[in-house]
Amino acid sequence: MRTRPLKVALLGCGVVGSEVARIMTTHADDLTARIGAPIELAGIAVRRPDRVREGVPAELITTDATALVKRGDIDVVVEVIGGIEPARTLITTAFEHGASVVSANKALLAEDGAALHAAAEKQNADLYYEAAVAGAIPLVRPLRESLAGDKVNRVLGIVNGTTNFILDRMDSSGAGYSEALDEATALGYAEADPTADVEGFDAAAKAAILAGIAFHTRVRLDDVHREGLTEVTSADIASAKRMGCTVKLLAICERAADGKSVTARVHPAMIPLSHPLASVREAYNAVFVEAEAAGQLMFYGPGAGGSPTASAVLGDLVVACRNRLANTTGPGDSAYTRLPVSPMGDVVTRYHISLDVADKPGVLAQVATVFAEHDVSIDTVRQQGKDGEASLVVVTHRAADAALSATVEALRRLDTVRGVASIMRVEGE
Ligand code: HSE
Repeated sequence: MRTRPLKVALLGCGVVGSEVARIMTTHADDLTARIGAPIELAGIAVRRPDRVREGVPAELITTDATALVKRGDIDVVVEVIGGIEPARTLITTAFEHGASVVSANKALLAEDGAALHAAAEKQNADLYYEAAVAGAIPLVRPLRESLAGDKVNRVLGIVNGTTNFILDRMDSSGAGYSEALDEATALGYAEADPTADVEGFDAAAKAAILAGIAFHTRVRLDDVHREGLTEVTSADIASAKRMGCTVKLLAICERAADGKSVTARVHPAMIPLSHPLASVREAYNAVFVEAEAAGQLMFYGPGAGGSPTASAVLGDLVVACRNRLANTTGPGDSAYTRLPVSPMGDVVTRYHISLDVADKPGVLAQVATVFAEHDVSIDTVRQQGKDGEASLVVVTHRAADAALSATVEALRRLDTVRGVASIMRVEGE
């Protein structure tokens, strides 16, 4: 056993960083035994040094993150600041000064993963980021390593806890979106500014990372089709219930049937109650991975929070330290397939469309004709009439998103269609 410690610099000491520091201290002996050398927290860079951080050694706190990553004696930099800058510059500087990096930064990995991997490779260093996707759930390592011999065709999951909590509340208590969001905020799931979660940015960044590593290609945040859940209404949830479904914000990454392209998208969707993802409650995450040889795998657990995210960070830290001792590195970038990312219009799925129409002879036939003209086949139609008006719910067979959008545009132009109340994709069947 080596007695000279491996030195770790921690960038950020918020909810996750302080848990990382705490576990490094309280589990020091176990970590030493597992790594084969002690690890020493050499410095903690923070923006607000006066903030009280229980259990965090005050003498290690600095506001000069740049000087910390430039020290030259740091073996691993742990970045839990989040956001693009200064995290990107600090990580790049850390590589230039010989350190490996463990990051929880989904936004940065989704935007600039290729450049960061290249910087790590140039310096013979590691870049690990298990905590960037779905908190404590081991997902990045299984995809990068355990499934490295298989062919993944689909990743489908709930990767944002805040939105799952909101939808779960809307489903179970009949709460409206705003009421459910208020509850998520009060319980500390949603941030004061919930945009990243409720508009789907957080899930889209995770989808970009998952698609890239699952399909060995390059997928950036801008490649991911994104719709949040702010438009989901109690009526949508009630409609889903009538169909034996529930509504979830899903991240879906797929390899095209011909294998020549991929798609990545985040949007609310109805899934049948019999699907395992339907039973993912509260702020939990769960991801289905479909691989050619392995079949269907499901990963489930807490996708956010200080301790769960710190668990993933610590796992990466142990591996990066072991590699350091063995003078080796783990798997690097594997985007060798360079598959194009197809637009949302090419995605093929089923749809649930709710229309308000005039209740008079020929309307149903008119509506059905519009679907037929756009080559969208109808599976079921349900109509409920009231005072000369009717609500028409159409569920389609699988159709291309572009064909469905054109259908809806044409429906809106019909005099007898008063409005398109909701359009929701149906997944998981
Ligand atoms: N805000 C995220 C969520 C956790 O609610 O799942 C961090 O990605």
